[in-house]
Amino acid sequence: MSKVDIRDLRDWLNDVEKLGEVTRVTKEVDPHLEMGALTYLNGKNSEQTTLLFEKPKGHKGDVKVLFNPIGNSMNRLSLAMRTPPGKSPIELVQFIKEKFDEKIKPVSVDPKDAPIFENVWMGDDIDMTYFPTPTHWARDGGPYIGTADVIITQDPDSGRVNLGTYRQMIEGKDRVGYYASPGKDTLLDREKWWAKGKPCPVVSVYGVDPLLFICAATGFPKQESEYDAAGGIQGSPIETVPGKITGLPIPARAELVIEGYSYPDGGQEEGPFGEFTGYYGRPGQEQTPSIDIKAVYFRNQPIMTAALMADHPSCEQNLFLAVMRGARVWRDLEACGIPGVQGVWSVPSAAGGFGMTVVSLKQMYAGHAQQAAAIAAQCAGGAYFAKFIYVVDEDVDPSDLEQVIWAASTRCRVSEDIDILRNTWSTYLDPSKNPNEERPYGSKALIYACKEFKNIKNFSRRTALTTEQYEQAVNRWEELGMPGKAPTLKVFDNLEEEFRA
Ligand SMILES: Cc1cc2nc3c(=O)[nH]c(=O)nc-3n(C[C@H](O)[C@H](O)[C@H](O)COP(=O)(O)O)c2cc1C
Repeated sequence: MSKVDIRDLRDWLNDVEKLGEVTRVTKEVDPHLEMGALTYLNGKNSEQTTLLFEKPKGHKGDVKVLFNPIGNSMNRLSLAMRTPPGKSPIELVQFIKEKFDEKIKPVSVDPKDAPIFENVWMGDDIDMTYFPTPTHWARDGGPYIGTADVIITQDPDSGRVNLGTYRQMIEGKDRVGYYASPGKDTLLDREKWWAKGKPCPVVSVYGVDPLLFICAATGFPKQESEYDAAGGIQGSPIETVPGKITGLPIPARAELVIEGYSYPDGGQEEGPFGEFTGYYGRPGQEQTPSIDIKAVYFRNQPIMTAALMADHPSCEQNLFLAVMRGARVWRDLEACGIPGVQGVWSVPSAAGGFGMTVVSLKQMYAGHAQQAAAIAAQCAGGAYFAKFIYVVDEDVDPSDLEQVIWAASTRCRVSEDIDILRNTWSTYLDPSKNPNEERPYGSKALIYACKEFKNIKNFSRRTALTTEQYEQAVNRWEELGMPGKAPTLKVFDNLEEEFRA
């Protein structure tokens, strides 16, 4: 595959199906807890596919539910990012980081050419119970229609359109709640409208191209629109159409969209919800703003998208955030003028890819590693929730946790090489901060799992093969009946350098 030509969820699903990574579940499955259970167990299998539930139990309409579109598949993630599969994790991070420079604004298409308007409900026709909305976990406060979703809002002052992913619980036939953590753009937009004494116009997309979902779930600079970033990654503008109620730009090829307003005094109790941390978020039911739905749009035979939040590896956001956050932090480090970055990775198993960032750095000057760690910890792309920021040297692949642990165990002087930042940006969802009133403040450990710069020239030499040794072994691999394939190595020790024992 040399070129990826995908414009919407259906195109992406076709390509993924050709790779054998879709399981179509044609028998009846209950959206209430059963889909979530199957997705959780499927995530624990290494050969996992995305799950397309074709017959949701108790629902008459022809509506399918697609769970965990990306999961732990580099293939599915690559296709969502409009690039052929085959790149290593850090190559994909670098590819995305470079795409961040190629912003392309969305284009508005004629509403007649927008598949999303194939079905339009307004007024009394609106009934969200028609859609098979999953309840994921037994203690969830209700069915959550918004998980693999995109919420669209606008800054009333600058006009910047924001895309964000937020959990949304069905509260009635024409009402959903949406929970946003402090500091998130959706919340800041909402409060600006309210401060002007106006309701906040909102669009929410519940069947969505994974590219838009992934961009919405990634922290971009506040003044930038995720639409432009997604267009840049796609290499062509995202097609939109103005909403009939709010005029907000709606993805023209989406599957299911609602449009409405959020009012400052319109909140309801929402939650709890099984979260990316692997714990229920917000232990009790709490007041959360809602959206009063004024219009519903959907394509014929729509496909809803759903993301299970869970411990690793069943949590939908883990792999794609590892790549997206890695790319964002790398870009932010570059923007701050930090040289020598070889790669950045947000470890997928660290609570939805949020908990741990690893920066691989070619150290060039005193304090370089400490500077990189402090910026990676606090930059816009990496600050939220992150608890552990590791800096490793350039011979360590940051996406290989085993190598990172080896580096920490052999290069980090624990008493000297760990700094702590306090009262940093976190979330009410962090279960480690108790009592609840202590949230949402967090703290971060900066761990220099790299050679001490002062002694870098005298640091013990690591054992590594010479290039000649390696090539000889690879050439004889089959002849000698060695099992599997010879692994690829990136680190060699060629003896022309002075030997230091
Ligand atoms: C499946 C999923 C659900 C999410 N739910 C929430 C949520 O309920 N509240 C929240 O504050 N962030 C949630 N996030 C994280 C935000 O989408 C993410 O921080 C994003 O960058 C916010 O974008 P914005 O600040 O541009 O609005 C979720 C992410 C994913 C992948």
